Amino acid sequence: MKLPANFYKPLAIGAPMPLRELPVRAERMIHFYPPHNEKMAAKVPEMVSKVDVLLGNLEDAIPADAKEAARAGFIATAKQVDFGNTGLWTRINCLNSPWVLDDITEIVASVGNKLDVMMLPKVEGPWDIHYLDQLLAQLEARHNVRKPILIHAILETAQGVKNVDAIAAASPRMHGMSLGPADLAASRGMKTTRVGGGHPFYGVLEDKAEGKPSRTLYQQDLWHYTVAKMVDACMSAGIKAFYGPFGDFSDDDACEAQFRNAFLLGCVGAWSLHPGQIAIAKRVFSPDVKEVLFAKRILEAMPDGTGAVMIDGKMQDDATWKQAKVIVDLAKLVSQKDPELASAYQF
Ligand code: GLV
Ligand code: MG
Repeated sequence: MKLPANFYKPLAIGAPMPLRELPVRAERMIHFYPPHNEKMAAKVPEMVSKVDVLLGNLEDAIPADAKEAARAGFIATAKQVDFGNTGLWTRINCLNSPWVLDDITEIVASVGNKLDVMMLPKVEGPWDIHYLDQLLAQLEARHNVRKPILIHAILETAQGVKNVDAIAAASPRMHGMSLGPADLAASRGMKTTRVGGGHPFYGVLEDKAEGKPSRTLYQQDLWHYTVAKMVDACMSAGIKAFYGPFGDFSDDDACEAQFRNAFLLGCVGAWSLHPGQIAIAKRVFSPDVKEVLFAKRILEAMPDGTGAVMIDGKMQDDATWKQAKVIVDLAKLVSQKDPELASAYQF
């Protein structure tokens, strides 16, 4: 076991000090774009103000013969564009792939000072995080990177889910984790052909009742267990949990329902793979106006967060005060990005 005293020490001489607190930022949607596609890359400057995080994808969905073009395209865009307070992330290839070493070394060498987060796919255990942690420290030192590049793991293998607590606590570089339902379904041997979302056959059949010939199957959320497990691992380690991709671009309602389940269970954002999903994520991961106004009343009624009061017939105490604070803090955060929401929340 690493000694607690060494946990926050840089892993290479000359690397920046690891962060003790994560940067406080709204990250409602991580918007994916394919950097080898010139038309898409040309749209990055106009996308920057529309999203919380922009991610250049180098891994799955990028064809093998475009991997190098994607990396070069990402580096070129990262150099040229001013991202302001929008996060700049990349998803590198997985650690056993032939591309990943060049992904990491070239990106840190050329745009290490602009990159906020490196997303690592197919994380199986803390050893994967330790490897990237060490390599990033060496590269940061070599290239004079001044703030640590954070690591975001994708939870998308059965073994990763088993090791999720250790992954979340593996390094002070850990930013958070996203559920990767497509790879996870394959890794677990689930009998589906989808990227996230529910399945019409996964449900609970209502009881038999006399005189009622047909029974309803109530569809259940396939991802409930994993999202909840991921949220507990992340929140107990002080990092953020995200739902990942929703692949059916023709079904915005189902996308919204999946994002909302994740939001209610504790996730702070999701991936947007299509421009139409940006608005969905914004709507879902910004707290509801009525909830915020109610939460503000709870905080006002209990200035020091203790005791019990009744508001509109509902009992409030220290625990609901804490829930209200989660909602109001999030509302304040998204208000910094979104003046319309700031006025709706009455800040
Ligand atoms: C994402 O990478 C997934 O596999 O769902
Ligand atoms: Mg995947």
